[in-house]
This record gives sequence, C-alpha cells and structure tokens, in this order.
Amino acid sequence: MTLSLSENLGVVGMGYVGLTTACGLADAGHRVIGCDIDAARIDALSRGEAPFHETGLGDLLSQNVAAGRLRFTADLADAVESADVLMVAVPTPTLPGGGADLGIVNGVVERIAGLVPPGSQRLIVIRSTVPPGTADAMAKRFDPAGERLRFASNPEFLKEGTAVADFMRPDRVVIGVADEPTGQRLARVYAPFVRNEQPILTLSRRGAEMTKYAANVLLAGRISLINELANICQRMGVDVNEVRRGVGYDRRIGFAFLYPGMGFGGSCLPKDVAALRTLAREAGYEPVLLDAIAQVNRRQRLAPVELLAGRLGGDLASRTVAVWGLAFKPGTDDIRQSPALEAIDALLSAGAAVRAHDPAAMPNARALYGPRVAFFDDAYDALAGADALLICTEWPPFRRADFQRILSAMARPLIVDGRNLYEPDTMRGLGIEYHSVGRPPVLPPTPG
Ligand SMILES: NC(=O)c1ccc[n+]([C@@H]2O[C@H](COP(=O)([O-])OP(=O)(O)OC[C@H]3O[C@@H](n4cnc5c(N)ncnc54)[C@H](O)[C@@H]3O)[C@@H](O)[C@H]2O)c1
Repeated sequence: MTLSLSENLGVVGMGYVGLTTACGLADAGHRVIGCDIDAARIDALSRGEAPFHETGLGDLLSQNVAAGRLRFTADLADAVESADVLMVAVPTPTLPGGGADLGIVNGVVERIAGLVPPGSQRLIVIRSTVPPGTADAMAKRFDPAGERLRFASNPEFLKEGTAVADFMRPDRVVIGVADEPTGQRLARVYAPFVRNEQPILTLSRRGAEMTKYAANVLLAGRISLINELANICQRMGVDVNEVRRGVGYDRRIGFAFLYPGMGFGGSCLPKDVAALRTLAREAGYEPVLLDAIAQVNRRQRLAPVELLAGRLGGDLASRTVAVWGLAFKPGTDDIRQSPALEAIDALLSAGAAVRAHDPAAMPNARALYGPRVAFFDDAYDALAGADALLICTEWPPFRRADFQRILSAMARPLIVDGRNLYEPDTMRGLGIEYHSVGRPPVLPPTPG
C-alpha cells in the first residue's frame, strides 16, 4: 500500500487568491475542485482559460487541468461532495462604514454546512481576509460540538502581478487552528511549498486572522510614510530618491514597499486599512496612525491632477490629458481601487478629455468608462495632441519610453509622473517639463 499525502481539496471563489490556490495545490499533487458562482468563469476555466492576467497562471491552469488533477464546477454541492477540505476565498468587500462585509463568506459557509451529508466531516479553511474572531464564530454557529465541521484560518499573502511565484514560494505559511491535528493536516497540505525551510506557523485562529490585517497595515504604512517624506522633501528641495537610497541599505529599514508614488491601491490595502480602523473603533481604540495612513494615501492620489490643473492655467476644461497606466500596479489587469481611476474621475469631472493606454487593463477600464475615455492599444497613439501625459502605473515599457515619439506626438511637452520612472536630468536635456513625486520639478526655461 502506498501512503498518499495528497488530499481532495475544494476551493470556493475562483478569483486572484482562490484560483492561484487551486492551481498551486493541484500542481503539488493534490486533487482539486474549484468552485465559483460565476458560471461563465467556470466554463472558461474548464477550457483551461484564465479569467484574468497573472504571470504564469495560464500555464499552471492548463497543465493541471490536462493532468486531471484540477476541475471546476459552478455547483457548490459538487465541491462539497468531492472534497474533504474546503478552502473559502470569496470577497470580503468594504461596508459603507469601512468594516469588512462578511455576507458572502458567511453565506458560502452556511451553504457548505447545509450540504455536508450526515455522518461525514469536512474541514473548512477561511482564506478570505476576515476580522479576528470570524472562524471562532463560524465554529460556534455551525457546529458547536465540532462533530461534522472543523474550521481553520489560513490567510494568503500573495501580491497580484507575482501571485503564482508568491504562492509557490511563500516567505511563510500562516495557519490558525483550534486543535493540533487540524494544524498538522494543513501543514501536510502545504509541505510541498516550504521545501526551502520556510516556516509553517501554526497560530490561534484569531492570531492568524489578525496577522493578515497587521501585514497589510504595516505595508500600507510604509507606503504612506515614504509618501509623506517625499512631500516634505519636495518642499525642501531634496530628492526623495537620494533619501530612499540613504535609508534603504539600513537593514532595519530595507527597500521593499518604500517607493514614493501615487499611493497604494488594489483590492486589499485600502480595504484592510479601512476594516482595521473600523474594528479598532468598535473595540474602543482611536487608531490615529491608521487614520493618517489613509489620509496621506488619499492626498497622494489626487495630488498629480491638482498639479496638472495648476500647470495648465488652473482649468482643465477643454484640455486633453493622456494617461499611461490604469492597473493598480504592473503585471496585473486589476483596476480595483487603482489610483489611475481616481485621477481619471477627477480629470473627467474637471472637463478634460482623457486618452488612455495600459498594456493589460484596458478591457476592464473600458467596461467601467465606456466612451467617456478614449482607449489606445499603442501607448504613443494615446499622446496625439495631448496637453499633458500623466503616468499612473510603473509598467516596464513606460520606463523604456521613446522620448522623441513622445515629443512629436504631444501638443505640449508636459509629463506628470506619478511613479518616478525617469531621471529629471534626462527630461531637462530633452526640454520636457517634468513633475515627479518628492523630487525637484523640471520647469520649462523662462523666456529671456
Ligand atoms: N487579491 C489579493 O491580492 C488578495 C491577497 C490576499 C488576500 N486576499 C483576500 O482574499 C479574498 C478574495 O480576494 P480575491 O482578490 O481573490 O477576490 P476576487 O474578487 O478576485 O475573486 C472572488 C471570486 O469569488 C467569486 N464569488 C463571489 N461570491 C461567491 C459565492 N457566493 N460563491 C462562490 N464564489 C463566489 C467571484 O465570482 C470571484 O470569482 C478577499 O477576502 C481578499 O481580501 C486578496
């Protein structure tokens, strides 16, 4: 008899976290069924087509579907029947008051609980980001005796754009459990991903849930801190990039998440900072630092448009602005909470015409804006006749821009670079008016 360590796993919610989880676990040899409420998404996945842009995911998906380890269903009952462990990775969006909306995740768990046949057992693993106490409350509500259902928390730390690499080689795996055998079982599930001795940390469920918020708030805090420093540098004639280099080599500080720019976006950092602010207030604590992280971020997102308006005579009506970059970061087509959207909204409401380009996110942006924004497959076509170029995402092709083409296409050589892609001296040499974040501006030469 061969002892197989592979499990029958179900993953509910085929988004960035769920689909990456399903593909990664199948690739490690587990038998995985992926489930989603979106039937069109399930059809595409069953054909081996990834529903969003994520480096390496397409290959992982098609290989594991072809190998017969990974299949998909829109029927939750099918997933509950086929799998012994059900991982839940559905959205936990922001409620109007800032808190985490647990409606979807609670609904899915309630349905799973109702579908488990009498006499059988399932382990439910919450991968969605949820407030501390959520898994404890689920256990109490759905199976207080712990006879049919076990609950674990297993937050995910992947970054969109590098989701597959992050999942396959995590810095650590965090598992929150209420009993030792469940911890050991999940540690076996993840064993193939920690062959380089990365730790599997077995915590309490509350500790694991809070770890996810803590990680995101610490990352968001670094971004707001470097942005605050950039704003101060700019006003004091200091180049923040010099300061970034000066501090980054200090091992206590480091370089990661220390890039000044248009602030953090995406579906996680803004949402999780908001949720922890609300949770803290509900717990009777005034989170002044978390409030400041959010406030700096909001200011950072709008600053480039305010600067543009100032440079174009205070009025954007009848001006044409080209926007490079719509995704909230390079390597993804995700535009949720993207700083670019806030900038475009401000430009449109000020009456500007917007011509946009993004290497991956244009279909998503087109679905949002329709004809209100003109979209161009070629980055340089977006520049034709533009009074200014606003750079919102640090996609690699923008770093390698052809400045002669930029100069010949634009009506006026004005670049507002929200991501610090270019060297001010280069821009000065080309005669381009150039504004970046936390660095002295390159202004047009004064006549005479
Ligand atoms: N995106 C990230 O980088 C990231 C990283 C770590 C953690 N998280 C957390 O993971 C969770 C999921 O995030 P995501 O970005 O993967 O979400 P997503 O929006 O990309 O995907 C969610 C999926 O769940 C499906 N879904 C919605 N309701 C459903 C239901 N009732 N039954 C089955 N499927 C349903 C949707 O159709 C969608 O395919 C969130 O709590 C998020 O905070 C996200």
